[in-house]
Amino acid sequence: MSKYKQKIIKYLYKQDAYLSGQHIAETLNCSRVTVKKVIDQLRSDGFKIDSQSNKGYKIVQIPPEWQEDIVNIELNDCKILNRAIVQTQVDSTQLLAKSQITHDDGSFIVLSDEQTKGRGRFNREWSSLKSKGLWMSVVLRPNIPIHRMSTFNLFISLAIQQVIEDNYAIKSQIKWPNDIYIGNKKVCGFLTEMIADTDGVNAIICGIGINLNQTQDEFNQVNQDRATSINIAHGSTINPYTFLKHLIHAIEERYNQFLNMPFSEIKALYKEKSMIWDKTLTYTEGQKQIKGKAIDIQDNGFLTVISEDGELHQFMSADIEI
Ligand code: BTN
Repeated sequence: MSKYKQKIIKYLYKQDAYLSGQHIAETLNCSRVTVKKVIDQLRSDGFKIDSQSNKGYKIVQIPPEWQEDIVNIELNDCKILNRAIVQTQVDSTQLLAKSQITHDDGSFIVLSDEQTKGRGRFNREWSSLKSKGLWMSVVLRPNIPIHRMSTFNLFISLAIQQVIEDNYAIKSQIKWPNDIYIGNKKVCGFLTEMIADTDGVNAIICGIGINLNQTQDEFNQVNQDRATSINIAHGSTINPYTFLKHLIHAIEERYNQFLNMPFSEIKALYKEKSMIWDKTLTYTEGQKQIKGKAIDIQDNGFLTVISEDGELHQFMSADIEI
């Protein structure tokens, strides 16, 4: 039955119309009894499926937990990712992705409804409430020397920023090197890790956290004034599958650009979408800390900052207090 379950989900999900049991059975070459059994199974899995005599069945609501079959439908047209690993709860999608790399040499995503040990940059805790956001790690396999990685985050930032702006009409901005903001509140953070040796990069593991559907009071005390969600900015519930579809498409496009074109070609756009210009901010990288203004970004992705004493500094990946 699971063979038909997958096919029936796919068929019903793709059509935004009622489909009769007879029609589904004929198309998928199974009996109407099988169709009915699968529909009952889906309903007990939490799908809301409307049925109307003379018209047939239509999915009207998908359960709040990620459904692997539907995620894989959204990946169908994507050429850079082979599959999705979908979990209800994990410690961190980043940890699970890294453990998979040893026995899967393909490119894939790991998604979870909830993370119990979600982590951000500098090992900071990343709050990952159940079914409130997109908690995802993307594993990619570029065939490039390590030094090319210095611009990867810039392309990915643009992908995320544009999904929010273009599809939800929300002005969002990039905070170099890894954050996306709406106004003065963070809506997304990502971190990029890699497995590499002297021959080059074997795998990129890019962990992306995007606040989709939290209300303001669902953020903890620390994040109350610093975090927001797309739902808050948009004013309505965000469909996670639609968001995922847009994001996968944007990542594919920007990743192909990253592989095939220099950062200089998208630098003007990147600078236009960035929020750090013309502000005196505190930059910390390792032991080094300065107050200064960002004045430019280099073709290799390094940020040029002029400190208060007029000295120029280059940062590869700083922590910036705003
Ligand atoms: C940051 O802002 O510091 C980066 C946050 C990255 C969070 C994502 S959520 C999915 C993946 N799993 C993790 O544990 N972290 C990343």
